[in-house]
Amino acid sequence: MSNPATGSVTLTLDGSNRSVSLPLLGGTLGPQVADIRKLYNELGIFTFDPGYGGTAACDSKITYIDGDEGVLLYRGYPIEQLAEQSDFIEIAYLLMNGELPNAAELKAFETGVTRHTMLHEQIRNFFQGFRRDAHPMAVMCGVVGALAAFYHDNLDIHDPEVRRIAAFRLIAKVPTIAAWAYKYAIGQPFVYPRNDLGYAANFLYMLNSVPAEPYEVSPILARAMDRILVLHADHEQNASTSTVRLAGSTGANPFACIAAGIAALWGPAHGGANEAVLKMLGEIGHADNIPAFIAKVKDKNSDVKLMGFGHRVYKNFDPRAKIMKETCHEVLGELGIKDEPLLDLAMELERIALTDDYFISRKLYPNVDFYSGIILKAMGIPTSMFTVIFAVARTVGWVSQWKEMIEDPSQRIGRPRQIYTGAATRDFVPIDKRG
Ligand code: ACO
Repeated sequence: MSNPATGSVTLTLDGSNRSVSLPLLGGTLGPQVADIRKLYNELGIFTFDPGYGGTAACDSKITYIDGDEGVLLYRGYPIEQLAEQSDFIEIAYLLMNGELPNAAELKAFETGVTRHTMLHEQIRNFFQGFRRDAHPMAVMCGVVGALAAFYHDNLDIHDPEVRRIAAFRLIAKVPTIAAWAYKYAIGQPFVYPRNDLGYAANFLYMLNSVPAEPYEVSPILARAMDRILVLHADHEQNASTSTVRLAGSTGANPFACIAAGIAALWGPAHGGANEAVLKMLGEIGHADNIPAFIAKVKDKNSDVKLMGFGHRVYKNFDPRAKIMKETCHEVLGELGIKDEPLLDLAMELERIALTDDYFISRKLYPNVDFYSGIILKAMGIPTSMFTVIFAVARTVGWVSQWKEMIEDPSQRIGRPRQIYTGAATRDFVPIDKRG
């Protein structure tokens, strides 16, 4: 729960003597928040905040962002330290449980996840129903949602043990589903998980190996994939996480809630941006074409955006983008890729955008997706899988946020209000009387 009121703000309805004192709540970090819950009862008015830019929909202990300073903390730990010193499975434990594990706790957690990496054999049949050219995010929405049909009857979300197992199942099975979506698209046999490998290495193994020959997972690629997963694991109340919470607030099946999150993530304004960045760089083609492209972005009459730039919360460098940029250079270096024209193009685009008043005045900086696509491309991952990889990572955040919400005794169904701008009350007109 948030801390007790630290003050209040008084709102007075103009032209009347009616006012209300709204308590100001505070968290551990971040600005104060006016508690408007009694506003309607006291003054008969709602608040209007499309896009929820000024609205806290919940209190949460999981992730903190300071958008002005470019700070991101998971459970209080700076993302830079976690990216450097931790790994994805430990981060999953941290996000879900609130504290870093000791060695025995980590081992038990990892075993818990690996025990659930296989899919029910019946799930194979779902893949056959898709067209081979289906976007893998469409397959992810469908197959993750279908898990609800496999784990429904024994799912009492108010039982902590049931929640724990649902979380393990989701974190463990999503990479398998993601890899199989890819294998199905390219017509290769599905590869079963290998529990002797780490989380990221097993994912790469399922994506890249074929039964016809041995496959050794490159430790460089496994480390890079792990880093990408860490950076994408959670990001407080973004569009997809809020979708998971809203769906979950009804008591819906958690597998169905995560499928809803995957759907929300897919959009180019959110997780789909990493794929869109690569498409954009491909369309620009050469540094000589950057000025014309930037002019189009700045043109009010065009709907062209500089993909991978801008963020609802960060009005400074996205700290994940900084780490991603460094990782990008490291990975290309380790893979021995000396010239990556897309990286050169991205760096030039970034340089120009960061010195252009349009972007400076609007505080538009590179976000995490600006560099992640370039790393994934260098790792040999096809563009259509970029957002899928984001979904694999974010499943941990979604599950943690869903769990936190269900465990909150004050949790209620999510139900925003609206300003109604349609027709006022009128009488039905029979069809023979209509003009
Ligand atoms: N390129 C050009 N102009 C932009 C961009 C951009 N990428 N982003 C914002 N702007 C402009 C807007 O047109 C607006 O200009 P105006 O004041 O002249 O009208 C101003 O900056 C403010 O932008 P908003 O749209 O109000 O910002 P909002 O917070 O609603 O949107 C968003 C944030 C959706 C991320 C936006 O910046 C965007 O579309 N970026 C490109 C897509 C992208 O990279 N998404 C990934 C986000 S990170 C993630 O989900 C992992």
